Order: sequence, then structure tokens, then C-alpha cells
Amino acid sequence: MRKQIAAANWKMNLTLEQGEILIDELLNAPHDLTEDQLTIFAIPFPYLITIKNKLAGKNNIFVAAQNCYNKKSGAYTGEVSAEMLNSIHVQYVIIGHSERREYFNETNAILAEKVNICFENELKAIFCCGEPLAIREAGAQNSFVETQLKESLFHLTAAQLTGFIIAYEPIWAIGTGKTASSDQAQEMHAHIRSVMAKQYGAEVADSISILYGGSVKANNAKEIFGKPDVDGGLVGGASLIATEFTAIMGSLK
Ligand code: PGA
Repeated sequence: MRKQIAAANWKMNLTLEQGEILIDELLNAPHDLTEDQLTIFAIPFPYLITIKNKLAGKNNIFVAAQNCYNKKSGAYTGEVSAEMLNSIHVQYVIIGHSERREYFNETNAILAEKVNICFENELKAIFCCGEPLAIREAGAQNSFVETQLKESLFHLTAAQLTGFIIAYEPIWAIGTGKTASSDQAQEMHAHIRSVMAKQYGAEVADSISILYGGSVKANNAKEIFGKPDVDGGLVGGASLIATEFTAIMGSLK
């Protein structure tokens, strides 16, 4: 059975102290994750070791980096490599968040390289895709997302994509308070799964966890996660509030 995942994306928020308080609050809140449910905290690089140590011994709760560089090593001042993340035993990393695509010019081709370097370093990518508002208004979202998947993932093998994680995040719903309806989310998630099934077969497609991201909150998570092709969420704003994220974790199916 594919994993159901509540992933927090802190983005560039919180000091270390604030982050530690938030993690303590979340760990103290009642949460019974089943074997097939995961929580992942995508947090700023400088906090990875400290927060990872705090989570030691907790089942199904992990840290993730929010990015890594597409080159192995070398003269790239300020960048962090996949090998470095692996060396501190980080297991997950967000790849291709729309903010990286938009503000840091990350193209589908660069993201294909990032996904490769993750595999080379035993990192599990949380691969983000999703369309901007103009594409949605033109009704071209399906082909737009399909191109993102093709250009960044279709060089991978079926074995690599088995159990892979994709996050669908319509850009018009990120941080805007505007959520895709649960039906819009389901429609796109089913489309993503069918694109992967066409290329890799139903078994691989069914093993992929497809998370929804874009203004997920405590009050809409249950309905969105309840859809058959939605396997949890990638949560920004609401992941910074302990009560909100606890409820979101509790909304996994
Ligand atoms: P949001 O962000 O929940 O604040 O909309 C989601 C994301 O960008 O991952």
C-alpha cells in the first residue's frame, strides 16, 4: 500500500528555537501514525541535525531538506549537495518547489538532474509540480503538468519510481488562502497517476504517493485527503502552527 504523508514545508520561517518549540508541541500532541502514514518536516538546512536528533526513535517521523544542488560537489559557494545531506543521514528532500522554479530559475531539465543526484545519494525526492493561474484559466493544466513530469522524471526506471513521492501544488493556491477544491485536486491527481501508469504501468503508478499542496489547513485537510488519489499533503503556512498541523496529521487516511 502506498504511503499517506503529511509533509510540513517551513520554507524560510522560524528561528531554531521557535522550530524546536514547534516540534516539541507536535510531539506532545496525540498522534497515532499507522505503519503506512508518515510525517516529514522540510526545514531549513541549519536545523536539520538538531531537529533530526530530536526525532530520534520516533517512528514514521522524518526531516527533509527543502532543496539540494544539481551538481555533485565543487566551487558552488553557498550551495548544499545531495551527498552532504546523505552524510548527515537526511533521507528526504523537496525537489522543484514552485518557489525554486520561479525565483531561482529551476527548469524541468535542472530538476531531472536533481532527481538523479538524489538517487545517487540515497535521498528520497518529494518532486513538486503544478500550474500557474494563467495556465489553469486557459484550461491547459493537464498538459502543463504532464510536461513537467515527462521532462523531469521519464528518464527514470520503473524501479526508481516505485514508491516515489510527487506533490501537486497549483501555484495559484500556494500561500493565497485559495485552495483547489477537493474535486479539482482529485482530478489532477488522477491525471498524474494515469500519466505515470501510461509510461510505467499501473503497479508503479499505484505505488506513488501523490500529495496535494496549496493552502491545506486543519479545516479542509480531511476532505482533500479523503479523495482516492490524494495521499496526503505538502503544507506551508499551516505547518507553522502546532494545532493546525496536528489536525492535518490526524486527517491522513
Ligand atoms: P501553503 O504552501 O500551504 O502555505 O499554501 C504550500 C507549499 O508551498 O508547499
